[in-house]
Amino acid sequence: MAAPASSVVVLDRGNNTTCTINLHGATVVSWRVNNQEQLFVSKLAVFDGQKSIRGGIPIVFPHFGPWAYGPQHGFARTCRWEVEKHPEPLENGDIEAMFSLVDSPVTKQIWNYCFKLVLRIILREKELQVSFNLYNSSSEPFQFNMLFHTYLKVPDVRKCSISGLQGCMFVDKTKENAIYQEPREMVTVNHWTDRIYQTTQQEHIISNVVSGRKMKMVKYNMPDTVVWNPWDVTSNTMSDFGEDEYPNMVCVEAGIVITPITLNPNNTYEGTMVLQVM
Ligand code: BG6
Repeated sequence: MAAPASSVVVLDRGNNTTCTINLHGATVVSWRVNNQEQLFVSKLAVFDGQKSIRGGIPIVFPHFGPWAYGPQHGFARTCRWEVEKHPEPLENGDIEAMFSLVDSPVTKQIWNYCFKLVLRIILREKELQVSFNLYNSSSEPFQFNMLFHTYLKVPDVRKCSISGLQGCMFVDKTKENAIYQEPREMVTVNHWTDRIYQTTQQEHIISNVVSGRKMKMVKYNMPDTVVWNPWDVTSNTMSDFGEDEYPNMVCVEAGIVITPITLNPNNTYEGTMVLQVM
């Protein structure tokens, strides 16, 4: 019997700068820059090929949030993806790899459309670029949400701040989806936070991430930003998240959330998020 295909793909740029993708969900489960991990993965994360991985960068597609037709946040994060292109150096030494997910009987039972979703990862010296390209191979249009559910590792979330949200309207999921406008230039996270910010600035700076550095997030064709920390209030509702872990993470998630995109047959949509250690 053939040995089972490996579940992880590693991009190695040298200098202890690597990125690891688990084919379960094409979830980025590690991004190390000069040996320093930048992403949070829970110590209780489950790697059973069934449950979504609690941490890293799970992909939310084709639906954000609870859903009558299938699992919360869609099926992309719980499907096994294919390697479309094995890691290869580009001319400048950056490393590129690609992964793909196409419709299957499982996805069609939930969402009856044909599609091809390609994830392209480029690992640079201090940057991680994550892009998607979605092709509608159905004979009719479909609507989708897409989100890079990025878990940043931080020493103490209470000391972090996030720019690029001032003036934006947001849905506060901790307040029965009430809608507010963000007055702050720098948003801090001092309690249970679960907000969908609409049409945010293209760039966010998150302060006090690993080693007290700043992280820049730049997004293209992904208008919204979710900010989430379960705090102790809701940590205990997740079996795969330690109750003492909430201070060490913050999710800043680039996506298409508030207004789903309608994609016509034979059309594609591309979006990108770039993370940069400053
Ligand atoms: C966030 C949502 O994006 O993901 C939260 O806004 C949700 O409401 C969180 O709790 C985690 O979701 P899940 O399905 O991975 O537990």
